[in-house]
Amino acid sequence: MKLILLGPPGAGKGTQAQMLMEKFSIPQISTGDILRSAVKNATPMGVKAKEYMDAGALVPDDVVVGIVRERLQQADCANGFILDGFPRTVPQADALTDTLDELSLGLDAVISLEVDTDALVSRLTGRRTCPSCGKGYHVDFDPPSKGGVCDACGGNLVQRDDDREETIRKRLDVYREQTAPLVDYYRKGGLLVEVDGMAGIDEVGRQILSILEAR
Ligand code: AP5
Ligand code: ZN
Repeated sequence: MKLILLGPPGAGKGTQAQMLMEKFSIPQISTGDILRSAVKNATPMGVKAKEYMDAGALVPDDVVVGIVRERLQQADCANGFILDGFPRTVPQADALTDTLDELSLGLDAVISLEVDTDALVSRLTGRRTCPSCGKGYHVDFDPPSKGGVCDACGGNLVQRDDDREETIRKRLDVYREQTAPLVDYYRKGGLLVEVDGMAGIDEVGRQILSILEAR
């Protein structure tokens, strides 16, 4: 299964990617996670990327295209992958098409998660993440069983630096301007599947699985 999860910040891409990764035993390729790990390790790329990420802006195309290209060449992607947060601009989508052609990998579907702006803001302000194992939570919609502590590994949950309301609004503007055009891009290519992302986490997962089974 070779998929792209498309949608605005907070739509549930990471949440659903984790479910699909377990279900199909294929890797999740999250450019956001890869960049955050580079920031944490203070690599030259991470130092450069941090400025853009803290401002809610996109990291330059050549940086993320290089990351994804390298990742897709790894052997574990031959049987499938879930792209989460990439592509995010038309040049990134064009570069992805070229890379997949070179590797003889074809996409099965582009799943577009549709969620209202108000819900996106409340999802992002309430998001908490485990820095040790990467598991995501929400203080109201998907809380850990013990306050502030990861169910999977016991790590202390944290809030992402870019999940402050002002930065969230900026990220949503950037999505509308630079990423939303990809919905039409993939619709024209016949790959787009629209999913109502307003339902609960499990229900959205069920919708995605039933769409994939029917394809
Ligand atoms: P990235 O990490 O990709 O962030 P994003 O796209 O802004 O998406 P999020 O991770 O915020 O949201 P999500 O859709 O994964 O939602 P989640 O499942 O966590 O990118 C961060 C930054 O990195 C960018 O701003 C940019 O600077 C840079 N970057 C990354 N990729 C790039 C690229 N390709 N090009 C250039 N720059 C790039 O869910 C959110 C919350 O809601 C969670 O708490 C979850 O529990 C909850 N939730 C999920 N689903 C539901 C539901 N159905 N009902 C109720 N709650 C739900
Ligand atoms: Zn954990």
